[in-house]
Amino acid sequence: MRIDVLTLFPEMFSGPLETSIVGRAQTAGIVGVHLWNIRDFTSDRHRQVDDYPFGGGAGMVMKPEPVFAAVRHVLGEDDAPVLLMTPQGERLSHTLAEQLSCERRLVIVCGHYEGVDERIRQSLITKEISIGDYVLTGGELPAMVVIDTVVRFLPGVLGEASAVHTDSFAQGLLEYPQYTRPRDFEGLTVPEVLLSGDHQRIADWRRCQSLRRTLERRPDLLREIDLKPRDAALLASMRDECDQS
Ligand code: ADE
Repeated sequence: MRIDVLTLFPEMFSGPLETSIVGRAQTAGIVGVHLWNIRDFTSDRHRQVDDYPFGGGAGMVMKPEPVFAAVRHVLGEDDAPVLLMTPQGERLSHTLAEQLSCERRLVIVCGHYEGVDERIRQSLITKEISIGDYVLTGGELPAMVVIDTVVRFLPGVLGEASAVHTDSFAQGLLEYPQYTRPRDFEGLTVPEVLLSGDHQRIADWRRCQSLRRTLERRPDLLREIDLKPRDAALLASMRDECDQS
């Protein structure tokens, strides 16, 4: 996959893109992230990327010319989704990230200042994405969030191929609790069922814990998924085991 990022602050990306899983995915050639400075696509002496809003008001607005020039340069004759990071966009989700990961190529435009000229939205952008109902100082951190979550879905990126399909949200439920050694840490012990070696019991316990956690923390998620017929029975029959831990 190829991802082109258009930003006024390319230097912000170096840590997150070069480190850990995204860094390794780039080294392995699974994804290539290319950073472009929108200011390099200005043609005036002052390299101006923003201007006052017509009609007055506070703040500056990103000018259309450099953003159009940058996207045209980056895409050439090619075609790809052009994403704008903005709090007005569709909320990023597991499902949206998975869909984006199926694209061969993405272009991400990071908005800044008080907003972008509406003609950028109208004629250049194919999808607007928000990472949550709060306003950040720019689209750079949201772009990094999108890249991180999309890259996880690319084949070969996560060690265990199935992890991406079993983690929180993959099945519409939150994840079950995980434990590792030691068995007893300062008197806090690992639930006995996980040491039992009984794979069916362990799977049932995990499903029960996932259901429970989702019910307690994100009941909205439960309304959106089809519970397995076994889930109700599981919750009832496993209640004791859940309660012990
Ligand atoms: N730019 C500023 N705030 C944002 C948000 N919440 N999501 C995406 N882009 C943004």
